[in-house]
Amino acid sequence: MRSFCSRGWLSLAHGFPARSWLYVPGHREKMVVKALERGPDAIIFDLEDGVPLSEKNSARDLLRRHLSKIREADRRILIRVNRIDSGMVKQDLTVLSDAVTGIVQPKVSIPRDIHSLSELLEEHESSTGINRGSLSVLPLIETAQGVLNAYQIASSSKRIAAVFFGSEDFTLDMGIKRTVGGGETRVAKSLVAIAATAAKVQAVDTIYPFIEDVEGLVKEASSAKEIGFWGKQVVHPRQIDPVNKVFTPSEEEVKEARRLVDAYEEALKQGLAVVALDGKMVEPPIAERAKKLLAVAEGIAQQAK
Ligand code: COA
Ligand code: MG
Repeated sequence: MRSFCSRGWLSLAHGFPARSWLYVPGHREKMVVKALERGPDAIIFDLEDGVPLSEKNSARDLLRRHLSKIREADRRILIRVNRIDSGMVKQDLTVLSDAVTGIVQPKVSIPRDIHSLSELLEEHESSTGINRGSLSVLPLIETAQGVLNAYQIASSSKRIAAVFFGSEDFTLDMGIKRTVGGGETRVAKSLVAIAATAAKVQAVDTIYPFIEDVEGLVKEASSAKEIGFWGKQVVHPRQIDPVNKVFTPSEEEVKEARRLVDAYEEALKQGLAVVALDGKMVEPPIAERAKKLLAVAEGIAQQAK
């Protein structure tokens, strides 16, 4: 089994932060097949809230059948298990195959939740002979307590590859409305993005449930990008392309970044650390930001080939 990634947002196994993370209810065979055929950057096969209790077993059977057929996955494939205190996680882990790179863990509120899942993963790894620590954990922070513990959670284990924010359960926990504009979650989202960055892992924004509203989706994704998210969870194939577009540097941005980096490198050769370009000062953090953007653009372009 391949490792999902080593820590650090640019050292992802697939070369760039995943932009679109598509949920697929584990018991819906047509959707499972469709998701595998058509490309988000990451697929999350769900065994938690997208699957009713009565269908949990059939979802596990169905996923086991489909995932065991995949030899070498061309994208990240994840399983969202049930919450750690549900008593169902051990059964959920029976769907894992070589194609699965990580586990999305819902409703993580304290670091202990991560440690409890890690213990189950260690058992699974040793009983199936796969490398210890190779399965990643991607916590979903979607409670008030989780938001306040976000850095402790994000840095609680080397298995953590990315941190997700979840608006639906968060607003439920807070007893507030989930609005189209999402202003009510701005502070919580910022805390999660800062925590993920401090722990050197990717932050992934919440789902946008209004599946007909592409404009609203793009707005929400763009404002998440502004505060440090590098991708977004999606629930419908129609949301994949708009989200990918938001998180892909535009041609214009790439051109501008290249000019900045060239100007900065030329300045360095002349013994300068700061230079003016088109009336704007370029200094080390500005040049580094441009380099980061070029690295992301390059990773995405490689993936598309
Ligand atoms: N993954 C894969 N395929 C999906 C899909 C998904 N998440 N959502 C829809 N599709 C497919 C449908 O099967 C349909 O396929 P077809 O054209 O071959 O028949 C096509 O996309 C169009 O679907 P549409 O009719 O517009 O939507 P729907 O009414 O069938 O489904 C939802 C709408 C919201 C129920 C569905 O998108 C869904 O279940 N999303 C995931 C929800 C989830 O996992 N929630 C828990 C995590 S937040
Ligand atoms: Mg949730």
